[in-house]
Amino acid sequence: MTVEHDAVRISADFFQDPHRVYADLRRTGPVRRVVLPRGVRGWLVTRYADAKAVLSDPRISKDYVQAGVLLERNREPDSPRPEFGQDLQAHMLNTDPPDHTRLRKLVNKAFTVRGVGHLRPRIERITSDLLDAVADLDEVDLIPALAFPVPMTVICELLGVPEADREAFHGWTTTLLSTASTALEITEAGVSAGKYVLELIESKRSAPGDDLLTALVEAREGGDRLSENELLSMTFLLLLAGHETTVNLIANGVLSLLQSPAQAAALRENPALLPRAVEELLRYESPVNMATLRYTKEPVEVAGVEIPADEFVVVALSSANRDATAFTDPDALDIERDLNTHLAFGHGIHYCVGAPLARMEGEVAIGTLLTRFPNLSLAPTPLRWRESTVVRSLHSLPVRLR
Ligand code: HEM
Repeated sequence: MTVEHDAVRISADFFQDPHRVYADLRRTGPVRRVVLPRGVRGWLVTRYADAKAVLSDPRISKDYVQAGVLLERNREPDSPRPEFGQDLQAHMLNTDPPDHTRLRKLVNKAFTVRGVGHLRPRIERITSDLLDAVADLDEVDLIPALAFPVPMTVICELLGVPEADREAFHGWTTTLLSTASTALEITEAGVSAGKYVLELIESKRSAPGDDLLTALVEAREGGDRLSENELLSMTFLLLLAGHETTVNLIANGVLSLLQSPAQAAALRENPALLPRAVEELLRYESPVNMATLRYTKEPVEVAGVEIPADEFVVVALSSANRDATAFTDPDALDIERDLNTHLAFGHGIHYCVGAPLARMEGEVAIGTLLTRFPNLSLAPTPLRWRESTVVRSLHSLPVRLR
């Protein structure tokens, strides 16, 4: 990170240790002009109370059509702009009410605590099969072994996506989320993902199944509840958000526990702490680093700073979750932390619809791993974080199983 003309510039090294930068910003300039990778200009909000205020302010919009216009304007000259088509963008995370309300209602029920409760035995099975497959090894990379396949398998089974396509889809989303990708790579990944989602929808039209995608296709056919573009975008969003986030809850969560062996031991001793531990892991090394882009529809004052109309606002969730005004001793991992009102799932109308599913996946994967491998430890390999403003994600997590 460098500072120029009072703007913070996010550069590649930031991703290796964002907490140090965030601590500094919360202290010296909690609402600061920022230049994101690829030259997008906006305002970075790093304190808890301000993050909450921004995320629930109706004057701050997520409308993707206007955001597209502003992306042209609020960008440094000569920064390459990916041609990411509009056909995957008409989803709930990119819309305001009333469209947001209508789109979210179509899937809300499937993802409530009740809606996902019946999936627990299946998640347990997936987890134990994956751990069986590596049980004889001394050392393993936990991301391909566990953290990625658990959420990917679950979301694909829910939606009715064939197993063979999962790696390809993950490849495109990884490219889309990485600030290290070139504009051309992003454009190509967007085109491939769009083509794939289109074919997937067509396959459900010709061979309906007992899955969420078929239900969405039927909702599309059965009335004017969602357009073709919205159907494609919804499918894309659910597939992406369903795995690119929970992989980090599992991997970052295991990392945090292995870095605090006393906490891991306390959890092994008392598995009833698991739900509370997962909340703390979500807070401590939040799977989503910064919330997605929003913009001001009119001037908005945040912590005494006036942000003009038509400017992007970026809320650093992982910074808000380490704010000492909201959490006692925020840089310490405490799996028994009480009243943990973290913002890892966002806040306001776009609060994560998949939170109950993610929590369950995190509990099962982390809990089973700890029980099954009592001597689990980090392998002595340097860790590297992916360059992404959206996800806080490790490239790999080598561990010793015994
Ligand atoms: C929205 C985090 C898992 C689906 C969000 C947002 C956050 C988030 C922070 C709001 C973003 C913003 O306001 O800019 C997480 C984390 C997860 C997780 C940390 C795992 C630990 C999932 C899963 C699904 C999912 C498993 C499954 C479908 C969604 C959807 C939205 C969303 C559809 C948009 C909601 C809306 O716009 O109303 N998530 N998520 N997420 N998440 Fe998750």
